[in-house]
Amino acid sequence: MDRPVLDITDLRVEVDTGRAVHSVLDGVSLQLLAGRTLGIVGESGCGKSMTALAIMGLLPDRFRVSGGSIRLMGEELLQARPARLRALRGNAMSMIFQEPMTSLNPVLTIERQISEVVQLHQNKTAAEAREIAREMLRAVQIPSPEARLAAYPHELSGGMRQRVMIAIALACQPRLIIADEPTTALDVTVQAQIFRLLRELQDSTRTAIMLITHDLGAVAEMADDVAVFYAGKCVEKGQVDAILSDPSHPYTRGLMTCTPRLRLGAAALDAEQQELGEIPGMVPAIGRFPTVCRFLPRCRMADGRCANTEPPVVRVASDHTALCWKARPDEAPEMRAVR
Ligand SMILES: Nc1ncnc2c1ncn2[C@@H]1O[C@H](COP(=O)(O)OP(=O)(O)OP(=O)(O)O)[C@@H](O)[C@H]1O
Ligand SMILES: [Mg+2]
Repeated sequence: MDRPVLDITDLRVEVDTGRAVHSVLDGVSLQLLAGRTLGIVGESGCGKSMTALAIMGLLPDRFRVSGGSIRLMGEELLQARPARLRALRGNAMSMIFQEPMTSLNPVLTIERQISEVVQLHQNKTAAEAREIAREMLRAVQIPSPEARLAAYPHELSGGMRQRVMIAIALACQPRLIIADEPTTALDVTVQAQIFRLLRELQDSTRTAIMLITHDLGAVAEMADDVAVFYAGKCVEKGQVDAILSDPSHPYTRGLMTCTPRLRLGAAALDAEQQELGEIPGMVPAIGRFPTVCRFLPRCRMADGRCANTEPPVVRVASDHTALCWKARPDEAPEMRAVR
């Protein structure tokens, strides 16, 4: 198998509030291969953005990585010096945020913003960088790209601004793009266009994409693989088709029945599972996670074992795991216990 573009093992992140140190991410392991899209899905506060920021080396103050490994093309990022991380950011890995207006510089033209990134990371002259800026605007299918080069961010629509962000993210041909809720601020038609565009660009560049979203429907459309997060843990992961056809964690089933576009697929779930439709309760705040299964207070399937012992990682199929006592292990005995 190809070496993964991104290989995260047992990542732990904690926050020091001044009064106590709390776990934010606990033992997250993920792999992302070239040309594939991994969807990270979960409710607000589950640790999706913190995962992205840990990869980029941009965790906010008071947050720190307390364990694990993050390798980009085999290189350990957690041991990289700040200058090395700066060189990798925007070059080997780049990020697209939810609201492009906050990431674009309001006083620079679109041409300047793209060509500056190119000049910062690649050994190009100003004229070459401008030419790349032109090509990139064409690549992200901005109408009349020549005219847009001289525009300022406020002169563009939200969808156009997000296309510019994608152009900037792709300008240095990164191996990894992290898109954190890239279309939440856009209407549904524009969302679909942006997703299609990312897919098309990925076909030609083989960039690995990590797509962070609340929306399991978007994951179903866009992603090859999915990791479901709950309260700082990855509770289920595998290929999208496998997870949507056989969701094994009660939280994943809850998310599926909450996603109207996926209800059809969820028809296979039995009545008890269907009932999980609206997941009762809320994601606990950091510092208030149960010490056993973090989903316990909201789970209708929980029993005494769930309340007493941490759930195991169960291998449901060869490439599909769930962190739950109730998940049915694959028949093959050697696949039963992962740890
Ligand atoms: N700047 C911050 N200071 C303190 N706590 C924070 C900060 N940003 C996030 N948190 C907390 O860290 C935890 C993980 O947050 P994170 O931003 O990763 O969630 P998320 O899954 O991206 O949520 P959303 O879907 O709302 O973007 C949450 O409990 C959140 O409240
Ligand atoms: Mg977030």
